[in-house]
Amino acid sequence: MKLKHAFMLAASAILSAVAFFGCASEGDSSSSAAAPAKDAAKVKPLVVYWTWSETHNTKVVAEMLQQKTGADIALIEMVTPYPNDFGSVMQLGQRDLQQPKAPAIKEMNLDLSKYNPIYVGTPIWFSTYAPPVRTFLQSYDFTGKTVALFCTHGQGNPATFKYLADAKTAVPAINYFPEVFAHKGTEAANAGPALDAWIQKVSAK
Ligand SMILES: Cc1cc2nc3c(=O)[nH]c(=O)nc-3n(C[C@H](O)[C@H](O)[C@H](O)COP(=O)(O)O)c2cc1C
Repeated sequence: MKLKHAFMLAASAILSAVAFFGCASEGDSSSSAAAPAKDAAKVKPLVVYWTWSETHNTKVVAEMLQQKTGADIALIEMVTPYPNDFGSVMQLGQRDLQQPKAPAIKEMNLDLSKYNPIYVGTPIWFSTYAPPVRTFLQSYDFTGKTVALFCTHGQGNPATFKYLADAKTAVPAINYFPEVFAHKGTEAANAGPALDAWIQKVSAK
């Protein structure tokens, strides 16, 4: 009995040691459980946005989002930027929204394999995305990614905005986070608390 007891103690000590040192060893790449954790560590969020007005409200929220999530950030740029006057963008924005894919945007050289989730921000134009943001969504392969949309707006009621619905129509293959973050542009600097709550929901997905 004594011998059996001693054997069992020794065996359990060896098993514990293997378990402890096995888990602690950084060099051990044979563990299949370790692989996803290492890959997950390499993937970080990305914030992509476009902005037009001189106060750049969407940029304010985008940079806040970058700071809060530790994301990389990228600006969508048009090949031929819209002019600065309101009358012209009213015309050109509506004209571009009538097209299937307009306006052209500059190459962004994004390696999306490094990122998830991807936050995409726009000013609300005519109750939906500004056209360059649609071009961005049409330009990349978002397979395996969660795309979370955010926007800043004027006097409009966010419940009536078609940003998510129109994005789903333009690029149905994307896995969109179901709740769009919307914040009044003139109050962009105060978006922090609402943004925190939304980021938590996106991260929990
Ligand atoms: C052409 C145009 C159309 C707009 N349409 C709407 C709209 O339908 N609803 C709304 O609430 N705000 C509308 N706005 C206001 C912008 O969404 C708002 O000012 C936004 O915060 C601007 O963001 P930015 O500074 O990043 O360009 C419009 C602005 C422009 C220039």
